[in-house]
Amino acid sequence: MNDAAAMDAGVNTRPLLSLHEACQQLAGLLSGEQDLIANAANTAAFLKTLLADINWVGFYFLKGEELVLGPFQGNPACVRIPVGRGVCGTCVASGETQRVEDVHAFPGHIACDVRSRSELVVPIRQQGKIVAVLDIDSPSVGRFTADDQNYVEALIDEFSKHQFAAD
Ligand code: SME
Repeated sequence: MNDAAAMDAGVNTRPLLSLHEACQQLAGLLSGEQDLIANAANTAAFLKTLLADINWVGFYFLKGEELVLGPFQGNPACVRIPVGRGVCGTCVASGETQRVEDVHAFPGHIACDVRSRSELVVPIRQQGKIVAVLDIDSPSVGRFTADDQNYVEALIDEFSKHQFAAD
């Protein structure tokens, strides 16, 4: 569903906060703590409250040639995803954000939650190298717009800036 279709359907998918406010709140949430698991857990919880119409949000960390499940909000999910497989593995292999309108039309999509119909996966880099991805699933087809992608990428920049600043 694009923004116009979402409005027609009476679903407001705009984030709860402006990007500026959301970045400030995330920075506040992460400040003073460097533990990756703690900060990823709070970031997933923050995104779950911020974004409407999503059923799963969380991290996968790159370990060797596999992505391994990290902190998340939602139903239990698949633990390991090989690089190049599914939407998450494709994000790592391509080095680019994957914004999938309809996961049923994505070759090799891995269905962890049958409710998921669209997906946004953003790469997370440390010193230029991908170390993790953030994955967000929605039960609505076409939930994520280009604006949503920019918004989430900016929040992930904030997360990375904070988390990997001392490297
Ligand atoms: N759908 C993802 C798998 C992870 S779950 O959505 C949480 C994929 O195709 O990589």
